[in-house]
Amino acid sequence: MEDLKGKIEATANLDDLESLRVEIFGKKGLLAAEFAKLKDIASENKKEFAKGLNDKKIALTEVFEEKKRVLLEMALEKKLESERVDVSLYGYESTKGSLHPVKETMDKIIDYFVALNFSVESGPLIENDFTNFEALNLPKNHPAREMQDTFFLADGQLLRTHTSPVQIRTMMKEKPPIRMIAPGAVFRRDYDLTHTPMFHQVEGLVVDKTGVVSFANLKAILTDFLHYMFGEVEVRFRPSFFPFTEPSTEVDISCIFCEGEGCRVCSHTGWLEVLGSGVVDPNVFEAVGYEDVSGYAFGLGVERFAMLLHRVPDLRSMFEGDIRLLEQFR
Ligand code: PHE
Repeated sequence: MEDLKGKIEATANLDDLESLRVEIFGKKGLLAAEFAKLKDIASENKKEFAKGLNDKKIALTEVFEEKKRVLLEMALEKKLESERVDVSLYGYESTKGSLHPVKETMDKIIDYFVALNFSVESGPLIENDFTNFEALNLPKNHPAREMQDTFFLADGQLLRTHTSPVQIRTMMKEKPPIRMIAPGAVFRRDYDLTHTPMFHQVEGLVVDKTGVVSFANLKAILTDFLHYMFGEVEVRFRPSFFPFTEPSTEVDISCIFCEGEGCRVCSHTGWLEVLGSGVVDPNVFEAVGYEDVSGYAFGLGVERFAMLLHRVPDLRSMFEGDIRLLEQFR
């Protein structure tokens, strides 16, 4: 009896304990063998013998259960230890991207016009002379073509110099009324602090039956748009020239850096030019076969807006892909 207890207590693991259980308590185990002797015992001694055996069984079971509990606890502790997670350890830092300031500015502009029910149109970057110039009232020898410093391709095609050809393409495939913007990349042979050979514009065009849309609508929407972009600035419409609009106007806002006092950014004028716009020239409608309509159009440079909003002094830095610049816009 005592040596069985000792054996149980000396077990080192659950597997050994299980073998021992079979050996002692099993059907063919030691206790079963003892109980089998009961039938050969004289009936007057039977009761005492059985009681003795039962006490032995109870005592051994107690020792066994206690040992099992201890071993299970140890096993659990071992498992927990091996699966332990140290939440105070440093993890791997993941680098999070952010939107490029030009993209973010573009999205902000698009949001404004989409909210006013403008459709968003697009066209090819490689254009032909007709859609980029001719249909926009820039005939072959028109001096205003010079303004655009075009990249020509070998086959007479060209990289579009503005998003205005999307006006033409949209009007050629759709009937009036038109209420669209066209965001996208454009290309010009230009490279300095405020010009890169590729930049982005957002074009706008609204066309309806003659008399429905007017210059007053253009003024109202662009004034509101510029307040949305820049806050409470002053907005000024200045007569200008574009071949595809008549009258044409450039739109200025009061300088957001000096509030109109005059500084380096506004060349000491107190004003920043931000938009080109005007009432669509009848020659443009004629080129696309529209009759009895009137409309207005505008175009803006997204990079210029981004530079002003984020106070970026050199536009070229926007396209160098330097992560240190981008990180400032998170
Ligand atoms: N296409 C002109 C430019 O690139 C901008 C503009 C668009 C002006 C529409 C008037 C109307 O400068």
